[in-house]
Amino acid sequence: MKLAVVGGGSTYTPELIDGFARLRDTLPITELVLVDPAADRLDLVGGLARRIFAKQGHPGRIVTTHDLDAAVEGADAVLLQLRVGGQAARNQDETWPLECGCVGQETTGAGGLAKALRTVPVVLDIAERVRRANPDAWIIDFTNPVGIVTRALLGAGHKAVGLCNVAIGFQRKFAGHLGVDPARVHLGHVGLNHLTWETSVRLDGPGGEEVLPRLLAGHGDAIAADLRLPRPVLDRLGVVPSYYLRYFYAHDEVVEELRTKPSRAAEVAAMEKELLEMYGDPALDEKPELLAKRGGAFYSEAAVDLAASLLGAGGSPYQVVNTLNNGTLPFLPDDAVIETQAAVGRDGAVPLPAGPVDPLFAGLIANVTAYEDLALDAALRGGRERVFKALLAHPLIGQYAYADQLTDRLIAHNGEHLAWA
Ligand code: G6P
Ligand code: MN
Repeated sequence: MKLAVVGGGSTYTPELIDGFARLRDTLPITELVLVDPAADRLDLVGGLARRIFAKQGHPGRIVTTHDLDAAVEGADAVLLQLRVGGQAARNQDETWPLECGCVGQETTGAGGLAKALRTVPVVLDIAERVRRANPDAWIIDFTNPVGIVTRALLGAGHKAVGLCNVAIGFQRKFAGHLGVDPARVHLGHVGLNHLTWETSVRLDGPGGEEVLPRLLAGHGDAIAADLRLPRPVLDRLGVVPSYYLRYFYAHDEVVEELRTKPSRAAEVAAMEKELLEMYGDPALDEKPELLAKRGGAFYSEAAVDLAASLLGAGGSPYQVVNTLNNGTLPFLPDDAVIETQAAVGRDGAVPLPAGPVDPLFAGLIANVTAYEDLALDAALRGGRERVFKALLAHPLIGQYAYADQLTDRLIAHNGEHLAWA
């Protein structure tokens, strides 16, 4: 089995490698290609990756290259984890929206739109080259904003599934609170990427015992503290929102907070520098502790599980993925991409029935779906007016004066990445 990781020179890659090494029985990789244009990072990350495989006795071969076409040739699955413009572009996304009193975040609001505009054309080009090399290869997209990027891929007819670690994070956390094996925890997970609610928590599959009320009663304080939301808000919702909902439910509070501290991109850039120094040490043969300070916990487990199912090697029967709505949420278009529990196999992901969604959540889901639709249109066709309309449609923006100011800033800060600007 051959896998290629596009953006393989990411300092985060050792997390993925560690998962591949530990879970080699689930996903028997014979060749792993890390592809990245940044040669210096790729050397450092590739070196550590080989040492991790060697230490854990993984027989697979690790190849590093900057040649995308060679990397994806014959690959059974291609993982996309790239970041156009790097942390510097992310730093911009997290900064200029604050000047207009709007949240500065890499996937939510105007910053997320900027990231989508930079990323969609690059990902579509890569996907075309994957298809040319091997039309049967699966594309697993970690690249943010995952909802919009996955919609772009599926709209262009690619074999793609989008993946995020929010759901697996909750699964592990809840399992800890309940004192059960994580594999027993089945989430009722509703919404869009980075806009989800856990509306149910069952033991042993979709028909199992409902334990969400027990979980909230016994561990609501801890869950609320993790989300940095007041406990009574959690009780009034009666479900567990993802931490990205804080950007909506506490928008102004978050803006004030962000204005007084360094951006997340700046923090991550400092960590990356330190990590690359560590990776250069030939004695290091495991993922360093420092990686745990990044947001991607359990990414590798989720990736192994999904790849194993898509390639027919096993994997959990149900997984939370990003895929076409196809009637699952009847208030959204069929071609919207939702984040949902799905049965995953060689033919892809089929969403499980979702049941009725409370208007308290459905309204926001529908609104952000419309924004994502307009965002994708702006990413594919460009133009100031399309950017403006996407921002005007976003529930955190909505006023023409803000949308205009943000549009100007977005274009000014991203000119080099936007072919049309
Ligand atoms: C979570 C999200 C990812 C995001 C990451 C950011 O894992 O699900 O989509 O990329 O956080 O983490 P970072 O350490 O880069 O802030
Ligand atoms: Mn995510």
